[in-house]
Amino acid sequence: MQKDLIEKMIDAAIGMLEFSYAPYSGFKVGAALLAENGKIYTGCNIENAAYTPTNCAERTAFFKAVSEGEHGFKAICVVGGKNGILTEYAPPCGVCRQVMMEFCDPENFWVILAVDKDNYDVFKLKELLPFGFGPGNLDSSK
Ligand code: THU
Repeated sequence: MQKDLIEKMIDAAIGMLEFSYAPYSGFKVGAALLAENGKIYTGCNIENAAYTPTNCAERTAFFKAVSEGEHGFKAICVVGGKNGILTEYAPPCGVCRQVMMEFCDPENFWVILAVDKDNYDVFKLKELLPFGFGPGNLDSSK
């Protein structure tokens, strides 16, 4: 991936920390999802007093995109930290990895974990979710 595009995604993900709704954990997360057509969909985590309805930043971004008809994705950038202070990577939870598996080719979808524009790593979805279960497993013709 091009460095300028990665930096743009990191900026977009960091920008979403402002909107994170995390009154219970105080852990703010921002995400920027790059569609194949170049459009970036952003997301933040949205917590809930009943706890379980909480939605992660990554899923917010995916659900915004899919609900607007987008189905092809290239990469997602995720940032997060207690009180919005970024000191280490915030890797996607298992549920979010599974949502990525639904819409993305695990060999061709990139997860960018960042602290800032100079400190980031790029992982292939397959590395984060080896031997994942996806739509192809339900299709016997594949
Ligand atoms: N969180 C995310 O937004 N993304 C992840 O993949 C990990 C966890 C959020 C959920 C919750 O609001 C807070 O971080 C603490 O778990």
